[in-house]
Amino acid sequence: MKFTLTGSLGHISRPLAQQLLAAGHDVTIISHSSDRAAEITALGATPAIGSIADAHFLAQAFARADAVYLMITAAQGDADLFEAGRQQAITYATAVKAAGVKRVVNLSSVGANLGPEVGALHIYNVIEHQLTHDLPGISLTFLRPTAMFYNLFSSLPSIKRDHTIYTNSSLTKKNSWVAPADIAPIAAQALVAPQPGITSQYIASDEQSYSDVATILATACHLPDLKAVQISDEAMLQNLLASGAPATFARQYIKMTAFERDHDFYADYRAHHPLLGPTKLTDFATTDFAQAYTR
Ligand SMILES: NC(=O)c1ccc[n+]([C@@H]2O[C@H](COP(=O)([O-])OP(=O)(O)OC[C@H]3O[C@@H](n4cnc5c(N)ncnc54)[C@H](OP(=O)(O)O)[C@@H]3O)[C@@H](O)[C@H]2O)c1
Repeated sequence: MKFTLTGSLGHISRPLAQQLLAAGHDVTIISHSSDRAAEITALGATPAIGSIADAHFLAQAFARADAVYLMITAAQGDADLFEAGRQQAITYATAVKAAGVKRVVNLSSVGANLGPEVGALHIYNVIEHQLTHDLPGISLTFLRPTAMFYNLFSSLPSIKRDHTIYTNSSLTKKNSWVAPADIAPIAAQALVAPQPGITSQYIASDEQSYSDVATILATACHLPDLKAVQISDEAMLQNLLASGAPATFARQYIKMTAFERDHDFYADYRAHHPLLGPTKLTDFATTDFAQAYTR
C-alpha cells in the first residue's frame, strides 16, 4: 500500500515509516527541510519537501496515497492557537479532498474531548471537529496519545541547576505518559487496517505522578536529592515566558496544567482506557534522559 506521512523523521514518524517500509509498503515522508531529503531516501522512503501550511503541495504529496498520517507541529509565534489549529485542519482537509484520499489518521491528543476550559489541548478538539466536518465519508482515525515522555526534557535545566522539577501540576495525582515508540505501531495499524468510519483511541505507556517521576529520574541520573516541587500558576507562567515560550501559548499551557490538576481530566481516558504500551518511564529515564543529563 502507499502512505504519505507528515512529521518528517520526528519522534513518531521515523519509527512509523520504518515499520511501514519493513512491511513492504511505499512511504512518502513530508519534511519542510531539503536537508532531510537524503536521510529520508536512505531510509527507503520518498521525500516530499514543503510546508504543511501549503494545501497545493500537500495535495501533490498525498496523490495516490491509500492513507495519510497528519500531525500538527509546535505552536509558532504568538498567533491564536485555536484559529491556527482550525486553519491547519482546513488545509489538510482541502488537500485530502483534492488528492482523493479515502483514509486519514490524525495525531490528536488526550484532552481532545474537552472545550476551551482545558487550555492548549482544546486545539485538538477544534481539529477533530473540523476534519470530521470537512471530510464526510472518509475513514478518520483520531489517535489520542497522552503526555510524551520527552516533555520531561523541559525540566533538564532546573534538574541540573537545582535538582528540582518545578511544576504547577499536582505532585501526587497520577498522570498518563507515552513513548513515541509505542505510538508508531498503533499508527501503522490504523493506516494499514483502520476501523471503519470515525474512531478515536487513547495511547499510553505508563501512569506516574510527578513525585513518582522525580523518584524515577533521581535513580536514573544518580541524583538522590532530585525532587518535584509544586509552584503557583503565575510562577510557572513566568518560567515558561523566561524560557522563550510564546505568550499566548504559555497562558493556554498554564490553563491546561491547572485544569488537569483541579478537575477529573482523565475521565474519558479512563472510560476508554488503552492497554498500556511496553515502554516505561524507567526505560526512558535510564536511556534518553540519563544520557541527556550527563551531556
Ligand atoms: N508533547 C506531548 O505531550 C503531546 C501529546 C499529544 C500529542 N502531541 C502531538 O505530537 C506532536 C509531535 O509529534 P512528534 O514528536 O512525532 O513530532 P516531532 O518529533 O516534533 O517532529 C515534527 C517534525 O515535523 C517537521 N515540521 C515542522 N514544521 C513543519 C512544517 N511547517 N511543514 C512540514 N514539516 C514540518 C519537522 O521536521 P523537518 O525539519 O524535517 O521539517 C519536525 O521535526 C505535537 O506537535 C503534538 O501535536 C504531543
